[in-house]
Amino acid sequence: MPPCNFKQNETIMKKHILFLLISIVLCACKKQEEKITTRLITEKAMVVSAREEASKIGAVIMKQGGNAFDAMLATDLALAVAYPYAGNLGGGGFMVYRLENGEIGALDYREKAPLAATKNMYLDSLGNIIPNLSTRGAMAVGIPGTVAGTFEAHKRFGKLPVETIMKPVIALAKKGIIVTKKQEIRLAEKQEDFKLANKSDFLFTKDWKENDVIQFPKLAETLTRIMKNGPDEFYKGQTAKILAKHIQDNGGIITEEDLANYKPKWRTPITFSYDDLNIISMSPPSSGGICLAQIMKMIEPYDLDKLGHNSTKAIQIITEAERRAYADRSFYLGDPDFVNVPQQQLISSAYLQGRMQDFSFEKATKSTDVSHGTVEVIESNETTHYSIVDPFGNAVSVTTTLNSGYGSKLYCSELGFFLNNEMDDFSSKPGIPNVYGLIGAEANSILPEKRMLSSMTPTIVEKNGKLHMVVGSPGGSTIITSVMQTILNVHEYKMNMQDAVNVPRFHHQWLPDVIMMEPYSFPDQTIKNLQEKGYTINEEDAPVIGKVDAILVLDNGKLEGGADRRGDDAASGF
Ligand code: GLY
Repeated sequence: MPPCNFKQNETIMKKHILFLLISIVLCACKKQEEKITTRLITEKAMVVSAREEASKIGAVIMKQGGNAFDAMLATDLALAVAYPYAGNLGGGGFMVYRLENGEIGALDYREKAPLAATKNMYLDSLGNIIPNLSTRGAMAVGIPGTVAGTFEAHKRFGKLPVETIMKPVIALAKKGIIVTKKQEIRLAEKQEDFKLANKSDFLFTKDWKENDVIQFPKLAETLTRIMKNGPDEFYKGQTAKILAKHIQDNGGIITEEDLANYKPKWRTPITFSYDDLNIISMSPPSSGGICLAQIMKMIEPYDLDKLGHNSTKAIQIITEAERRAYADRSFYLGDPDFVNVPQQQLISSAYLQGRMQDFSFEKATKSTDVSHGTVEVIESNETTHYSIVDPFGNAVSVTTTLNSGYGSKLYCSELGFFLNNEMDDFSSKPGIPNVYGLIGAEANSILPEKRMLSSMTPTIVEKNGKLHMVVGSPGGSTIITSVMQTILNVHEYKMNMQDAVNVPRFHHQWLPDVIMMEPYSFPDQTIKNLQEKGYTINEEDAPVIGKVDAILVLDNGKLEGGADRRGDDAASGF
């Protein structure tokens, strides 16, 4: 090579190296910038949800003078547009609130079994489970509660007119949403189920790609009717008629009478202390609050902070408490309007101290040695949660779901939304697992008008009598442990809100007797230590555990959002 060429090459090489260095620096800055923008801190108000569009609409409503309950109606309905995977009109949910004056409460707008439901409706003549009947298509649908619930919360506590709240949501449905990469993947995965659950093609039976815009003209029409006529439109009006007919035309049993009878219920939340925290969470028919209380009260006597975040010993203590709580979970819990739930006993200190007496750091307890139970829980990750704090100091924690991703996959094109498959959260046949591996007990068997057991854990934490944190997650049975680890990350390990949401999570639920761990997240040595003590580790089946959206009130009164990096989640506020 001639010298001049060599020199040229050398110059090019130098330029290349310089470019690379600049790129690395820029990349590092970008990463840092991403982290900083993700860790949003605001002065007065915040919404954290699964989609930026929904968080923004909720925040704008509060900017216009609305409170957390106005923002709840806006965010919930906006998620039905922007996040049809779990946001919904055709599903249900739970809300826990804390008013600025300290008053607390909870609203249950969980789906119900239709009047024609029977205990053995998912069994064949030989008593065997009929595959897919409780998970896909019209028979899987429970009576939706979302419209009734969000309007009930607004009626009791909201300030702004429904029109002010719903207009931006309807505008979003007309304008459409931009498909994200994660959405593209989820839609592609479900195409076969979409076709099996529906008689003809519909809006989502298409090869949607990232950056495409999906518009929802039919959903916009439905929302406009609801805005004009109120929730009765959904339960007694034109929408109810179309909905009942659509479900029946597709082989389902929900009638206009079922829809007309649906009512949400105000409930007393579960409250318990952990160190100097007061924790407020969802009561039955969700298992969330009781299970959270059981686990946290069992681990409270241990010095988790000294043991270190995700250390072998900390994982052991939490795992053993989870094992014992989940053993109780589905044996005792069900709809309190139908079964007697020994709530106070299950979360009493005396009972829970006794539960941990046989725990030893030397050796894993075997789940077969832990009563109660006949319950195995492996649920999907496909619910959604949002947290809100308003400028007045009110806080709202809401988890809402269609159960599986896109619910039963049954879509009503005339109305523009998916229907849930929440009936699968009942135990179709006590002792036999459903498709998620859930083996239920009699307490959660099917009866007309009964609500199915849930794991949803919308939670609010107080410290020194003041609002401290609003937190929740999707993730079926992993909801409870995701919420708990997030609270511990802030309280025990002094993490900021965003880090507390970001760091790796693990989960144990009694059966199967494994610790699920987010892959590539835990040191090899920790895994080895646990295996040596007799724990089985599973890093394959849970690429993601929970998807937490939370708000922390900082010491200076500002609000810090924690929007989970595991999804397209985003915080918005002012
Ligand atoms: N369908 C999920 C839950 O309610 O926990």
